[in-house]
Amino acid sequence: MKYADPSDVILDVGCGSGRAAFILEKKGYMLHAVDIVDYRVVPLKHFKVYDGKSLPFPDNSFDLVSFNFVLHHVPNAIKPVLLKEAKRVSRKHVLVLEDTPKYFFDHVMSFFHCFFWRWKIASTAPFGFFQKERWEQVFRSLGLSVLVSNPLVRFCRKPWEPLARSVFLLRV
Ligand SMILES: C[S@@+](CC[C@H](N)C(=O)[O-])C[C@H]1O[C@@H](n2cnc3c(N)ncnc32)[C@H](O)[C@@H]1O
Repeated sequence: MKYADPSDVILDVGCGSGRAAFILEKKGYMLHAVDIVDYRVVPLKHFKVYDGKSLPFPDNSFDLVSFNFVLHHVPNAIKPVLLKEAKRVSRKHVLVLEDTPKYFFDHVMSFFHCFFWRWKIASTAPFGFFQKERWEQVFRSLGLSVLVSNPLVRFCRKPWEPLARSVFLLRV
């Protein structure tokens, strides 16, 4: 992985199907994964379901804590809580990959994505995609230094969802 050293111990928060974590495990990374539900389609050596707010690990347990397209699924009020948790359990870096709407098309797609997620989990809490600059403000307000804040290519995830996305590497 571009943002991790081979010896790094990684926490994948919101691993979903577990496919990305599985690939990293196969590459030899020491990896733990958590999610609020278990819908893994691949086995992972270290996986836990947790409450979505308090990461069930002691302080400074990992070199890199990553959120791969997870934070827009987290209610806005809980986003800083979870990022503070990431800061607590990481001794080096936090990596965030997120949809960061830029143009009208991105905003419309993001709106429907959040709408269906809220419906799926029967929630009325405000969820949201933030623009790149807003994320940077949130990270800095939590004392996380922004080392990298770069756009990703629009087709990096699903070809039928060519949305604006960004990668953020943060130093705790
Ligand atoms: C779009 S999927 C991304 C899955 C995976 N990271 C990937 O890139 O394929 C979003 C994931 O975030 C998880 N999620 C939602 N709220 C969460 C929370 N508070 N903490 C951790 N995971 C959460 C969902 O259960 C889901 O697995």
